[in-house]
Amino acid sequence: MTPLAAPFPHGRPRRLRRAPWIRDLVAEHRLTAKDLIWPIFVREGVDLEEPVASLPGVSRLSVDRAARAAEQAAELGIPCVALFPYTEAADKNPEATEAWNPENLVNRATRAIKAAVPEVGVLLDVALDPYNSDGHDGLVRDGVIRNDETLIALGKMALAQAEAGADILGPSDMMDGRVGYIRQLLEEQEFQDTLIMSYAAKYASCFYGPFRDAVGATGALGAGDKKTYQMDPANGDEALREVAIDLAEGADMVMVKPGMPYLDVIARVKAEFRVPTYAYQVSGEYAMLQAAALNGWLDGDRAAVESLLAFKRAGCDGILTYLAPRVAGLIAG
Ligand code: PBG
Repeated sequence: MTPLAAPFPHGRPRRLRRAPWIRDLVAEHRLTAKDLIWPIFVREGVDLEEPVASLPGVSRLSVDRAARAAEQAAELGIPCVALFPYTEAADKNPEATEAWNPENLVNRATRAIKAAVPEVGVLLDVALDPYNSDGHDGLVRDGVIRNDETLIALGKMALAQAEAGADILGPSDMMDGRVGYIRQLLEEQEFQDTLIMSYAAKYASCFYGPFRDAVGATGALGAGDKKTYQMDPANGDEALREVAIDLAEGADMVMVKPGMPYLDVIARVKAEFRVPTYAYQVSGEYAMLQAAALNGWLDGDRAAVESLLAFKRAGCDGILTYLAPRVAGLIAG
């Protein structure tokens, strides 16, 4: 017998990777269309699709087309869509009054979707930025974001959205106390079943750039930033404090945003609270993946699936992603 040339391995993890069937059998996480929430941009007009330059493959849709997209979501098995409005400059002012217009774009789109495909959930963002002429999520007085005055506006906005039939409200403004205030109003006005998914740990991130183009908020915000209300990317413990507050105030589900650069935060939130936890793979993350894929530097399909699986591994119950229809199609295919 020839002596072994190398020491005998103590374990052979590769046995579990030898063939697809065994890899399938030991896979710890699986991505399905049911894990996805599809963010859709809505604009005025009829039968219109307008590409967003900084988000290749994503368009702003007129209300009728948004309803069709929701039908597509149903066919693909995507449980929920999130709607964001492209607001014309003429509809913005320093009070952001369009935010609680019952006939604003997202409220009309919500009604159209609930009429066409009631089984698809609708998530609406609660924040003033698409409607605020200075591009901020809160009301600005003398250059300062007014937290408590903003709450009053957010409350009116949330009620108009609930009235329009939104299933989930997503306060994304990062004002203090907004979840509790909105929850109280919903209870008082007998919208007890309206869910709140709070953007609990939302960072002041450069990865929102393409989104601000898509909703027409870039010019309004100008060189300004959101650092007095969105979180500092340097902080992790603070995310846990934000989540604890929002849960105590009545949030049903919590979100971490952006996604890929904050997987550590997602994992900590899930481990600490064990509540339904979501991530938003935001516009800049999508734009990076698409840019590389369109240049032939990455396999776009594989990168899409791998990036979303990472969220599942980190502990997410679901992911908001512009890749939703594409990945749902890939998984189904
Ligand atoms: C608005 C809002 C933003 C996003 C979702 N809701 C932008 C921001 O906070 O400036 C970003 C989503 C994305 O980048 O895809 N409060």
